[in-house]
Amino acid sequence: MPWAGSNPSAPPTTRSATNPAVTPATSPPVLSAASTPAPPAPLAPPAPLADSLACVPVSATLAVNDALDARKRTGQAVLPLGFGEAGVPVHPMLATELGAAAGRGGYGPVAGSAELRAAAAGYWTRRGLPTSPEAVVAGPGSKALLYALLLTIGADVAVPRPSWVSYAAQARLTGTRPHFVAAAADGGGVCDAEALNAVVRRSHTTGRPIRAVIATLPDNPTGTLATPESVRALCAVAARHDLVIISDEIYRDLLHDESTPFLSPAQVAPERTVVTTALSKSLALGGWRLGVARMPAGDLGAALRDRLMGVGSEIWSAPAAPVQHAAAIAFSEPAPIRERIERSRQLHATVARAVARVCADAGLCLPAPRAAFYVYPDFGPWRGWLRSRGVTTGPALATHLIGRYGLGALPASAFGESEDVLRLRLATAMIYGDTDAQREEALIAADPLRLPPIAAALDRLAEILADLGP
Ligand SMILES: Cc1ncc(COP(=O)(O)O)c(C=O)c1O
Repeated sequence: MPWAGSNPSAPPTTRSATNPAVTPATSPPVLSAASTPAPPAPLAPPAPLADSLACVPVSATLAVNDALDARKRTGQAVLPLGFGEAGVPVHPMLATELGAAAGRGGYGPVAGSAELRAAAAGYWTRRGLPTSPEAVVAGPGSKALLYALLLTIGADVAVPRPSWVSYAAQARLTGTRPHFVAAAADGGGVCDAEALNAVVRRSHTTGRPIRAVIATLPDNPTGTLATPESVRALCAVAARHDLVIISDEIYRDLLHDESTPFLSPAQVAPERTVVTTALSKSLALGGWRLGVARMPAGDLGAALRDRLMGVGSEIWSAPAAPVQHAAAIAFSEPAPIRERIERSRQLHATVARAVARVCADAGLCLPAPRAAFYVYPDFGPWRGWLRSRGVTTGPALATHLIGRYGLGALPASAFGESEDVLRLRLATAMIYGDTDAQREEALIAADPLRLPPIAAALDRLAEILADLGP
């Protein structure tokens, strides 16, 4: 039956003495104590949520950011080395393109617009991975694509130890299990082949065979790059055990030295490797939420693509259309965008190396950073001294650094290492300045280390380590 109020031709509802719900419109209702309706019985409070796969804490990177923001709001100084954001301004050309496409209000194809898929295909083809637009699936950030891929594969996955915070959490969210495997000794981001072989073999005896392995090239958290030999060895094990390789290459364009040899598993095992990337790091567009996946050739690739599109169609429908347009411009790499990435690469390299030097000078051990904006110092040499100050684990060290000095950093345990490990990831790209003007200046400076925000952050880090260490 239609609701009277929804019908403009129906007479207005009134109340009358004979019907308590209806009174003449002219006389206001008179309430006496006797006629006051009893207050409704309180509704039952909500019951606690049942346990579910979604019981994962807020991602460690975002949590440390919140802790630093809270300190900042109370006027306390902070040294933001926790959050892995790229810290440079949005390129004006891309901002203009985004604005120009604001009228694109339609959803568009699930896999992404033809314009974007062609541009991403060109991007990979220029990097030695010939790609057709049909092999490209776009999504709202590579994080969402990685999650959808794990859901699509639907089986346990091997991940390097250490590795980016979200792989293991995402695997758990899909109801599968992450299996940590020691990273190769010559660079992070790729599982040591022998150790992977053993873990996968064992998984076959447990009734839960591992079906996929993730590689991060270059790596977050270590800021290093696995060698071509490690990549080949990984591909051989993947072929032996029929594993899908997910190669997360989001930092590929931020190798500090362009002559460092880079080998993608997709060049060695094209029929079993999915490659993902995004604009979040090379162009600092994490907030635009746009990532792309390059699906493998052959039947496996076709099946993965179909399933990925099914998941995408039910979760995000399509990435934001105006962002796709701007991303297509970015992936087609016109000269101003190439120049911006080149400057960012140099800035990240200069500052990451300077932070590494401060750590080494203070007596910490760490691998030389080779890519992106991360360093991964080991406070192990100070273990005894730190114990005497009540700090015995990596998480306790990170908490101590935030609480005592306002220094945000992530403990190795966030990346799958044991809590005993006293390594921390320092993300170095959030010290370029608080304003876009300062960050722009950092991009063009001949010597960014002399700019006040960067120089002050490096001095502060040296001061903190001098105070903390023996
Ligand atoms: C290794 C790695 N992969 C993927 C992502 C996700 O990036 P996005 O979802 O912005 O594409 C990040 C972001 O920190 C990352 O460090």
